[in-house]
Amino acid sequence: MGHVLVTGATGGIGAALAGALVEAGHRVTAVGRDVGRLGARGLDVRGIEVDLAEPGTLAGAIGALEKAGELADLRALVHCAAIAPVAAVADADPGTWQRTLAVNVGSAAELTRLTLPALRRSRGHVIFINAAPGTTGIARWSAYAGSKAALRELADSLRDEEAASGVRVTTVYPGPTATDLLSEVRTAFGRPYDPELCIRPRTLAAMVVWVLSAPPDAYTAELAVVPSPR
Ligand SMILES: NC(=O)c1ccc[n+]([C@@H]2O[C@H](COP(=O)([O-])OP(=O)(O)OC[C@H]3O[C@@H](n4cnc5c(N)ncnc54)[C@H](OP(=O)(O)O)[C@@H]3O)[C@@H](O)[C@H]2O)c1
Repeated sequence: MGHVLVTGATGGIGAALAGALVEAGHRVTAVGRDVGRLGARGLDVRGIEVDLAEPGTLAGAIGALEKAGELADLRALVHCAAIAPVAAVADADPGTWQRTLAVNVGSAAELTRLTLPALRRSRGHVIFINAAPGTTGIARWSAYAGSKAALRELADSLRDEEAASGVRVTTVYPGPTATDLLSEVRTAFGRPYDPELCIRPRTLAAMVVWVLSAPPDAYTAELAVVPSPR
């Protein structure tokens, strides 16, 4: 139990995760650009308003949290926020690349950097919500795939670097999960979307909470979650 920072908590998976963490007895702080919407997700958690497309603004927000003593019991950081624009390389302009890399990986790196002193003190846990495109390129999804590949490398580097300080690092690879993001992506690809065939966000959330509950001698470095055969 302890304090967990979660990005993307206004989204499908992040909201389920924040709710599951609270149910498990954790104190959750959501980091997002419109934390006023947390209530609409049924969440009664503290929010810090930051646009993750501007990683440079995180230092001020996290500094204020630290100054208020709010990081003293920081136990974990879960990076869940992402955008997933569908565009061929031929059509993706510099803004698409810049925004996708900033939200999906640059902010994750910066938020990790800023909270590492607290996470080292607690021998805490950093969880990166990745995706299958983080392991292979996909036509018309290069900015997303590239950002998730970079996120995987960030996690692997961090795991090695922080082994001596006791900080645990996990990458989660969810399969298709029933959220607005997946619905929009499937529409953009011209593929069908049936939420009944997808992972439920709360199922995925329960698995992430389980990852955080590992005993002292071992933990899950990578977790691939797929829908059960129907
Ligand atoms: N759904 C799937 O099938 C699936 C599969 C594999 C991996 N994933 C991964 O799971 C994670 C969550 O996905 P999801 O399906 O829950 O997506 P989602 O419902 O679209 O949620 C995305 C979250 O990211 C936040 N976000 C986007 N841009 C932001 C910005 N500039 N600043 C701050 N926050 C920002 C959104 O905030 P706003 O509410 O303000 O937009 C929202 O909370 C992502 O990392 C995604 O890559 C999803």
